[in-house]
Amino acid sequence: MSKVIAITGAFGYSGKYITTRLLAQGHKVITLTGHPDRENPFGDQVQAYPFHFDDPDKLIETLHGVDTLYNTYWVRFSHGGTTFEKAVNNTRTLFNAAKQAGVRRVVHVSITNPEIDSPLPYFQGKAQLEADLQALGLSYAIIRPTVIFGKEDILINNIAYLLRRFPIFAIPGSGDYRLQPIFAKDLADIAVKAGERSDDLVIDAVGPKIYTFKELVKEIREAVGGRALLIHIPPLLALTMSRLLGLVVGDVVLTHNEVRGLMANLLISDGVPTGQKELKEWLHENTDEVGTRYASELKRHYLN
Ligand SMILES: NC(=O)c1ccc[n+]([C@@H]2O[C@H](COP(=O)([O-])OP(=O)(O)OC[C@H]3O[C@@H](n4cnc5c(N)ncnc54)[C@H](OP(=O)(O)O)[C@@H]3O)[C@@H](O)[C@H]2O)c1
Repeated sequence: MSKVIAITGAFGYSGKYITTRLLAQGHKVITLTGHPDRENPFGDQVQAYPFHFDDPDKLIETLHGVDTLYNTYWVRFSHGGTTFEKAVNNTRTLFNAAKQAGVRRVVHVSITNPEIDSPLPYFQGKAQLEADLQALGLSYAIIRPTVIFGKEDILINNIAYLLRRFPIFAIPGSGDYRLQPIFAKDLADIAVKAGERSDDLVIDAVGPKIYTFKELVKEIREAVGGRALLIHIPPLLALTMSRLLGLVVGDVVLTHNEVRGLMANLLISDGVPTGQKELKEWLHENTDEVGTRYASELKRHYLN
């Protein structure tokens, strides 16, 4: 049955894949975004509204008549006036608006292994929001992805970008810490199926294979035909190098917290894999494209 669905960030990364699937099922989709005037890949199929985090009444008005809200909104790191604290508060405003507007169900995209006592604000903030959503009194599904791979991805794309161009690639520390990447389309499938249910649900969105970071870099190097020598350097030195690269490409390439998160084995699940596509297979299908251009977080979210 066709429903009215709201999603944050339909023109962004994971939101675009979820929206594609929702539209294919015949739903009417609206989006909340910080860029309502951005080029809309769905044309008049998706109407865009501003987030209105500072005007909850307008947010409630936008959400009136919505059956399910898919929330992808979050920030990757604190930058300028954009902080994790602000992202947590904005998301709370969104959840409360959904409740007041009479939304039936919230599908919330979180992260694997969120932890309320985590020293990492990304994982701590996500845990806080999961608890808030669970206490809200609405039907919910919490989807916990690891690194998401797809054409619009930043991390894997930018590793490929470096491996295509430089003779040396620096791995922070041993490179033995693990990741379980999930394909963006698989994530969308999991999220939309979860949206159709009515029971409360928490599910990891993780791919079929766990890679050590070193294995992941080797797979990407092979797929792009790179010859870079992999060297191991102290994490803080890797961070310094990424800052220098950031000056060249005009971006925040990697943050201290991201290096810590990566090395803490938080991007894996101890449950069964829920995604199907293997990163290796996808890399070989996209070898002509992955890493040919640098993908900038600042350009995407701060500079326009
Ligand atoms: N990408 C990954 O590998 C990954 C891994 C694990 C978990 N996740 C989680 O998956 C969800 C979606 O991630 P994504 O990579 O697909 O995100 P995205 O599409 O880049 O952004 C999702 C939404 O957040 C908004 N947003 C992002 N950064 C912002 C900023 N600095 N200031 C204001 N608004 C901002 C976007 O606004 P606009 O609509 O204006 O673009 C969009 O509505 C997030 O909750 C993230 O924590 C992602």
